[in-house]
Amino acid sequence: MLDQITIDRIIDAANIVDVVSEYVTLRRAGANYKGLCPFHDDKTPSFHVSPAKGICKCFACGEGGNAVHFIMKMEQLSYIEALKFLGKKYGIEIEEKEITPEQRQQLNEREAMFNINEWASQYYHKLLKENPDGIAIGMAYFRSRGFRDDIIEKFRLGFSLDSFDALSKSAAQAGYNTDYLLKTGLCFQKDNGQITDRYRNRVMFPWFNVSGKVVAFGGRVLDSRTKGVSQKYINSPETDIYSKGRELYGIYQAKKQIAKDDRVYMVEGYTDVISMHQCGIENVVANSGTALTEPQIRLLHRYTNNITLLYDGDEAGIHAALRGTDMLLAEGMNVKILLLPDGDDPDSFARKHNATEFREYVEQHQTDFIIFKTNLLLKDAGRDPLKRAQLTQSIVYSISVIPDEILRSAYVHECAELLHQDEALLLREISKNKQAALEQLHKQQTIELERQQRLAQNVEKAEDQENTESPISQQDPQDPFLSHCFALSRT
Ligand code: CTP
Ligand code: MN
Repeated sequence: MLDQITIDRIIDAANIVDVVSEYVTLRRAGANYKGLCPFHDDKTPSFHVSPAKGICKCFACGEGGNAVHFIMKMEQLSYIEALKFLGKKYGIEIEEKEITPEQRQQLNEREAMFNINEWASQYYHKLLKENPDGIAIGMAYFRSRGFRDDIIEKFRLGFSLDSFDALSKSAAQAGYNTDYLLKTGLCFQKDNGQITDRYRNRVMFPWFNVSGKVVAFGGRVLDSRTKGVSQKYINSPETDIYSKGRELYGIYQAKKQIAKDDRVYMVEGYTDVISMHQCGIENVVANSGTALTEPQIRLLHRYTNNITLLYDGDEAGIHAALRGTDMLLAEGMNVKILLLPDGDDPDSFARKHNATEFREYVEQHQTDFIIFKTNLLLKDAGRDPLKRAQLTQSIVYSISVIPDEILRSAYVHECAELLHQDEALLLREISKNKQAALEQLHKQQTIELERQQRLAQNVEKAEDQENTESPISQQDPQDPFLSHCFALSRT
């Protein structure tokens, strides 16, 4: 029996377009894809695939479903076998064992956490609309930012009262278990044991995961209290249902449009996402000011290959644009950068322009990432030979991680020209990078293997065994350098 967490991970990872494409030649048709149905003798493309919904369906014979159903039918497998098949495809390790009572409890706990978060999001939302303070303080704040009612509904924005126990009391009245208030981080326990609401007198932004479940909250301090308050936003801690590095704010509201436009806009903050929706641009998500992670990129990759990073045109914005972008390239995304006019962030820009103007601005000003980086660094380096050499290294590195060979060589061609360098030299550097990455990987693997052998021979102490990590090849490479080695070794 597969545990539900593994099943969820497999279903989350399975990209329907990717899965179906292995059997059917698909063509894009608006937000969806079409091809000849593999289940009957199809003469016209009746088989439709919807990346936003994660499903496929033949409009002639009716066959279809999600990625698992498709594989079941295609490979004549049982449900569990199809899950395993997909697990293998996406490198998700499957440990098959009877579900233990503890695991059953863990599953029930996750469900209970989702439930209480859903309730709390409705509770904060209702306060915003109906409570006198909610209206006078919270709603007034959102109005001052120009947020419309439909947008407040769409993002289920809310308000938390200026009280240490308003939420926990209401939760108890509604029959919710205090344990889950703590487990979700809605409340925390003081040293004296008192259960305390985490969010007080803040406007509330619930985080929906890709399937629309509330996994976390962000609470923003009100403008009037910004001075002297150390934290503008308080966010949920990491919990069993929320890992910051795996979620993207706005993905649930954006996914359909991302697939339709075949592009996602990446911004930094909650309010950037919301203002852009309000101005009519819906294919936008935020990473809350942190570097993008692989799981986040994979999530986006289910809907599109194309990403535009939107940054403020100031110094900080430009440097943020360079950080972490190699990982996007390594995942095979086409990356563009858009710098907004100095002084504007996506929120303020969206408030000054309508969707058409916004899109036009993007069309005219977005630049391919590699070209952007090359030009930017060229300007920085000036004529300094050492700096120019470092610059070449850095560009070559970004190009090295791109999985698509044709794209790689197109960039080499383009950048050689910009850098006034010989193409052959850049190509040599790229293969040197790859060689070094492979050697590094092998070295790590050998070290790990030896360690495992030593452990197996019981040479090391028992307590050391408790700290055993999984072999390096199966780890999610968190270390950015190792992660790049993996990326390079794949290209
Ligand atoms: N952030 C956070 N904690 C902070 C500051 C920022 O979690 N103390 C995250 C939030 O997700 C925020 C994002 O980083 O949305 C971007 O930060 P910032 O630009 O400062 O906030 P805005 O979203 O622009 O908020 P506002 O416009 O209300 O100032
Ligand atoms: Mn802002």
